Amino acid sequence: MIDTPTCAHRGVFVTGTDTGVGKTLISAILAKAWQADYWKPLQTGVADEPGDTPSVAFLADMAPSRVHAPAVVLQAPLPPWAAAPLEGVRIDTHALTCPATHAPLVVEGAGGLLVPIDDDTMMIDLIGRLALPVILVARSGLGTINHTLLSLHALKAAGIAVAGVVMNGPPSPSNRLAIERFGGVPVMAEVPALDVVDAGSVAAMAARMPTLASVMEALAARP
Ligand SMILES: Nc1ncnc2c1ncn2[C@@H]1O[C@H](COP(=O)(O)OP(=O)(O)OP(=O)(O)O)[C@@H](O)[C@H]1O
Ligand SMILES: [Mg+2]
Repeated sequence: MIDTPTCAHRGVFVTGTDTGVGKTLISAILAKAWQADYWKPLQTGVADEPGDTPSVAFLADMAPSRVHAPAVVLQAPLPPWAAAPLEGVRIDTHALTCPATHAPLVVEGAGGLLVPIDDDTMMIDLIGRLALPVILVARSGLGTINHTLLSLHALKAAGIAVAGVVMNGPPSPSNRLAIERFGGVPVMAEVPALDVVDAGSVAAMAARMPTLASVMEALAARP
């Protein structure tokens, strides 16, 4: 069932400056903080690991009804564009619509913005179609200014709203300042390197997140 208005008005798309940057952990923290549902539309690499959906369900301690199965699951640890043909799968990107829910929705992308889904569609195109504001997960350390500003540049060029950046890793006030000053978006949260990644540490971080309402109000107030 298609429920685009719910998708558009009460959710975020969590993307990152890179693969492995912390999107799943941040998605779990936000889902916990906002009592949100979770959906990863495109999951690759399940030949090697179970995928992000069970991780988020575990980390955010979510009821199964709040966790929506991926629309596409592919074996190879490759971008969807490369993994799908290996299994004879054709991804219908126009069929990727948000699951129906009355809860807020946290949607997690695969890799970063310019990951190809098919010959005609990049991850950033899917974000634009789903019309969700973006949470951009960035590493906190050296190199993040360039990666983050490039990602923000691409999002701005595509006309996609950015609700905020989440910096993941040991806090760097200087990098935070640079991202806010040159990127023109707020760093909505910083998540330090956690000694243990489990439901307890996710709940502790969730308690430190801003509310979804405050994030959306700040976005709406931005020029
Ligand atoms: N702040 C942190 N503290 C400790 N471990 C972390 C932190 N952030 C991420 N990790 C760990 O780093 C690994 C990669 O993080 P994660 O899976 O969230 O990245 P991702 O961006 O979702 O990757 P993918 O592109 O594969 O979806 C995981 O093992 C995760 O638990
Ligand atoms: Mg992930």
